Amino acid sequence: MPPILTQLRRCSSRRSSVARNTAGDSLVSLHAVTAHYGSTIAVRAVDLEVKEGEIVAILGANGAGKTSTLKAIVGMIDLSGGTVRYEGRDITGLPPERIVERGISLTPEGREVFGSLTTRENLRVGAGIAGQRAYPERLEEVLALFPVLRDKLDVFGGLLSGGEQQQLAIARSLMSDPNLLLLDEPSLGLAPIIVERVFELIARLRDRGMTLILAEQNVDRALQIADRAYVFSTGRIELEGDSTRLRETGDVERAFLGLGVEDGA
Ligand SMILES: Nc1ncnc2c1ncn2[C@@H]1O[C@H](COP(=O)(O)OP(=O)(O)OP(=O)(O)O)[C@@H](O)[C@H]1O
Ligand SMILES: [Mg+2]
Repeated sequence: MPPILTQLRRCSSRRSSVARNTAGDSLVSLHAVTAHYGSTIAVRAVDLEVKEGEIVAILGANGAGKTSTLKAIVGMIDLSGGTVRYEGRDITGLPPERIVERGISLTPEGREVFGSLTTRENLRVGAGIAGQRAYPERLEEVLALFPVLRDKLDVFGGLLSGGEQQQLAIARSLMSDPNLLLLDEPSLGLAPIIVERVFELIARLRDRGMTLILAEQNVDRALQIADRAYVFSTGRIELEGDSTRLRETGDVERAFLGLGVEDGA
């Protein structure tokens, strides 16, 4: 597997030839995915598809099921029904480490940087056991994308600012060389200027060919960057569609509140 920047560089020419919002190959798809925590239902019969090269937003209020849906994709919660397919193969029920090896990586909500490990050690963990041989090369590639982390390599994760921690969390996910990156509320708790930087970085990854799923409550910013979006309420998809169209209709707010919409977008 070529390292990320090589892959991204290679993909950049492909990306420019792939028009946004047009039909491409489905990279990941969820069919009737249902998940519970004990007796609490978190995801209800969700059908969702992401094509190669897209940014797809998952929007919704607190408790809508965004995180649980991302966790369902990476095998971090057991499904009570439905299937997840990636690159045409059924990955339902595979353990998370196998799913990472296939090329999917999750940057968790709240960053979950290891506070008592240095930036370098956090990145090393992100490379995983399988990625240790390629680690030095990948480290250099990832640091080229996140220059701010180069000066902080020997600083404990817990001492980084919120914006630096978010960059470290994304960088750590990239160390496993994913094709599909899942970002869970990357703008949460960050100052507006830092949010802009994080979104610029997301755009850069997309422009270089990466496919992204972005769970967000920052609806305006997410719809600006995403090709398409799904709006969740109480574990269900209330609304889905092209981002430009969703921005025009103003239906997202109603869907957020689970009020339904007249037009299915
Ligand atoms: N570990 C857990 N144990 C029990 N219930 C949970 C757990 N995690 C989530 N839930 C419940 O599952 C439902 C979906 O939660 P989820 O975290 O997926 O929502 P979310 O859209 O990511 O919300 P937020 O914006 O607050 O992160 C909610 O009802 C929530 O209370
Ligand atoms: Mg969440």
